[in-house]
Order: sequence, then structure tokens, then C-alpha cells
Amino acid sequence: MPETTTEAIRVFAADVKEGLNTFPKRLPSKYFYDEKGDELFQKIMGLEEYYLTRSEYQIFQNQKEDILNAFMGDSGGFKLIELGAGDGTKTKVLLKYFLSQKANFIYSPIDISGNVLEQLGNDLRQNLPEIKVEAQQGDYFKALAALNKNHTCKEVVLFLGSNIGNFDNLEALGFLNQLSSNLSKGDMLFVGFDLMKDPDKILAAYNDSEGVTREFNMNLLKRINNELGGNFNIDKFRHVPTYDPITGETKSHLVSTEEQDVFIDEIGETFHFNAWEAIHTEVSQKYSYRMIREFAEKSGFELVQNFTDTEENYVNSLWQKL
Ligand code: AVJ
Repeated sequence: MPETTTEAIRVFAADVKEGLNTFPKRLPSKYFYDEKGDELFQKIMGLEEYYLTRSEYQIFQNQKEDILNAFMGDSGGFKLIELGAGDGTKTKVLLKYFLSQKANFIYSPIDISGNVLEQLGNDLRQNLPEIKVEAQQGDYFKALAALNKNHTCKEVVLFLGSNIGNFDNLEALGFLNQLSSNLSKGDMLFVGFDLMKDPDKILAAYNDSEGVTREFNMNLLKRINNELGGNFNIDKFRHVPTYDPITGETKSHLVSTEEQDVFIDEIGETFHFNAWEAIHTEVSQKYSYRMIREFAEKSGFELVQNFTDTEENYVNSLWQKL
């Protein structure tokens, strides 16, 4: 059975058509994540050079007691809503601890992939049978709409893994404002931000020595070949990440190593590449403490506490809705 439905194929084709007809060329990073892409991202999270996952894990391990106290505040309990839950490996550290402390909470993971949610549900039923789970399938915007404004129980929204970094700063602020407008006074938002740091370390995280990240980017071209009848020759593209230490913007590109034409059957168009012309595939924004504070202030929150790892690679920032 095909993995992608005809409607999804049409939307994919339209997005590719738009992106490759734009100058500079671009492709949306959300299309990294088919089954193969999910698998490659799992692999990336285990890489030595990809410090993000390990840093967030360490923060949760070492500071779970403070995190629970801060989530609880003076409420009797809360609903923990996770946007883009994925396989929940890191979140489980918190969930397990919260249960051991007999904290009163419901866990509501939201993810675009029904497949991923089903696996997470099975895993939780097996390994944390006492937990109360209300899973929801959908994209972030559906998830935002599902946060009903007139809730009685305190809501704590988790947005982890520096997933916010896939938005540029303007989009991130728009997203945070939408989120904020769907929350009530006293609700909380716990966001993972990757900090600005040694540029070499950042570049290594997005260009690992085993070439997994390269394959992760190339998978996008393979998807276009497989699902849209494209004829990309992936040997004629190089994976090139860049980091701007002033803005913190980290971008991934696929650079055409020669002048070439690529035909995509489903779109019925040929796309021309000049030698060394690039396709922008992803933003992975890095942040300063100042940027984090400004984001909170500009979206109707008060910054309650920053939790960081020992190397100060990464911050989980806890905000409260004003
Ligand atoms: C899942 C968006 C946080 O940008 O660091 C990993 C995805 N891209 N390696 C990131 C990713 C290349 C990741 N996020």
C-alpha cells in the first residue's frame, strides 16, 4: 500500500513546484519526515555530534524535581500537552518521575504521524501503565485549535527538541502568539531552545562524520524521485550547512555541483540548476538568552525559569501566560 495518499501527493507536488520555482530555490523541511526520514532522524539523535538530544535529556534527568515543582506551582494538577511528541523518549524521563511522585496530571501527546502516536501509546501502556493518556493526531495548527480556551485544569504545553528552530524568527513569534492566545492566565509553556555556541560544534551537528545528516537531506530528493516521478541524480548534489554567528541562523542546503536539468513527472515541469546553485532545505535557529526573553515578552508570557545543561548547550525555558 502506498504510504502517501493521492491528496497528500498533490499537496507535496504543489509545494515542490512552488519551492523550485522560487529564487533562491527552497523545499519545506517537513517533507524530510517520511518513514525513512523518521528512521534517519532517530539515528541523528543518537549521534555523538548531535548534542541537542543529549543536552535536553540531561536537563530532564538532573532537574526533574525542580521541573515538577515549577509545573505544579500552587495548582492541584495539570494537563501536559506535548506538541510534536515523536517517540517520547526524553519526555518519558519526566513522566516516569511525575508518576513516582504521585503528581496529578494527564498526558496529551500531539503528533502529525498517527503511526508514531500509536507506537508511543503502546509503549506507555506497557511501561507506564498508570499514566492517563489522551493522544491527538494532527499538525501544530490543528493542535493549537484543539487547546480549548475555557479549560478548567491548568495546561502545561511542551514544545521540545528545539523544534521551534525550524521556524524563522518571525514565524516563531507568530506561532508563539497563536499558542498564547489559546491559553489562559497561569497556563505554562516549556520550550526547548538550542543556544548559540562554538560555530564548529554547530556545523558538526548538521554535518556529522558518518553522513547521516547528509542522507537525511538527500532523502528529500529521493522522496521527490519516488513519489513524484522526479529524476534527481543525488550524486550531483552536495549537503552544505551554514551558521551565522550574528543571527544564530543555521541553514541546510543541497548544492548542485554542475549545471543540470531535473524533470518531475507529477509536476510536468523541468527545473534548471546552474552550477553551484543551492536549494535551501531547513532552518535550525540557534538562540541567545536575550532572544529567548524577548520571545516570551513579545508573546504574552513571563519567563519563569531557564533550565540548562552543564555545558550550556541548550535551554528549556519555562514561561507562564500573563
Ligand atoms: C528536529 C528540527 C530540531 O533542526 O536540529 C537534525 C532536525 N535536521 N539534523 C534540528 C535536524 C538536521 C532538528 N529538529
